This record gives sequence, structure tokens and C-alpha cells, in this order.
Amino acid sequence: MEVAAPAAVDSALRPTLKTLNSQPSTFNHFMSIIGVGIDIVECLRIAQMIERHGELFITRVYTDAEIEYCTARKAATQHYAGRWAAKEAVLKAIGTGWRRGIGWRDIEICNNRAGAPTVKLRGGAKDVMDRAGIQRMHVTISHCRSYAVAYVVAEGVGK
Ligand SMILES: CC(C)(COP(=O)(O)OP(=O)(O)OC[C@H]1O[C@@H](n2cnc3c(N)ncnc32)[C@H](O)[C@@H]1OP(=O)(O)O)[C@@H](O)C(=O)NCCC(=O)NCCS
Repeated sequence: MEVAAPAAVDSALRPTLKTLNSQPSTFNHFMSIIGVGIDIVECLRIAQMIERHGELFITRVYTDAEIEYCTARKAATQHYAGRWAAKEAVLKAIGTGWRRGIGWRDIEICNNRAGAPTVKLRGGAKDVMDRAGIQRMHVTISHCRSYAVAYVVAEGVGK
């Protein structure tokens, strides 16, 4: 898509637009929101599943990095619950919900150095993301003793 300079655009900006228009076509697509997802979970529910199924539940749902992150924290259950909510919110944002070929561990929530959560997809979840034209996912998480919530925005050029 060619970005035309409106008449009012300062002549100083014209070289910038010219450079943008000379890039390969993917650079000319502005990313847009393709999907959003939200989820809320009771921390008690996660605590009960951990109590009932222990290691089996944890290793089926969470990646090694997620387990390491949560177990290093005082209120581990809240962090597990936050990740559960984030994984469900990702599924809503990519538009499929749970389906064959997507596993819990295909969706990984990591935290950057400042503590902000990030989403990494692999396997079946990554395939769905690619097919939908999603290029970036943004996630935010909050939790207290009772509940954990997560909200996800999927961004891309769409298909
Ligand atoms: C972000 C912050 C305001 C959250 O405050 P809060 O009300 O106590 O906690 P909430 O339950 O609402 O949110 C916790 C979630 O915030 C997210 N978060 C933490 N730091 C964040 C940041 N810098 N940017 C965006 N999100 C952040 C995390 O996902 C966290 O949950 P998780 O640890 O399970 O992944 C607070 O933790 C903060 O100021 N953090 C940044 C600096 C800091 O203290 N870092 C500690 C590591 S050095």
C-alpha cells in the first residue's frame, strides 16, 4: 500500500514517506488488532487442582520456565492462576478456544526483566497464530488472594 503525502505534510516529512514506500510490501502494512481475550480464574480452584493432582497437573499445564518462576514466589498459587488465566485469554484472542492439537504448554508466559509478562507460542497454538496472521501478542496479568485475571491483545496484518 502506497502512503501518499497529504498536501499539508511538511516538506521535511516527504523523504521519510518516500523511504517507507520503498520498503518491501510487508513494511507498508500497519498492524491492527486481530483479536482480544480475557479470562478470570479463582485461585482456590487452581490450589485444589494442585492439591489433588500435584506434579501431574503442574507439568501438564505449565512449562519448565513457568514452574521455575511460580515456585520461586511466595504466593505461587496466584502466579499459577495468573498463567492459567493468561493461557485461556490467549486462546480467546487467537479465536479458536481449546481444540485438538493445542496443548497447555504450547502457550508460555514469561516475564521480562522489569517483570512484565510476555507470550510465547509453539506447536499447534503457533500454527493457529500464523494462519490468523497474528505477529505479536500482548498480555497483562493481575492477581489477588481470590482471583487472577489476564487480558490479551493479538496484533498482526490479518489473513
Ligand atoms: C507491576 C506492578 C505495579 C504490579 O502490582 P500489583 O498490583 O502488586 O500486582 P498485580 O497482581 O496487579 O500484578 C502482578 C502482575 O503484574 C505483572 N507485572 C509485573 N511487573 C510488570 C511491569 N513492569 N509491567 C507490566 N506488568 C508487570 C506480572 O504479570 C505480575 O504477575 P506475575 O508475576 O504472576 O507474572 C508492580 O509489581 C511493579 O511496580 N512492578 C515493577 C517493579 C518491580 O517491583 N519489579 C520487581 C522485580 S525487580
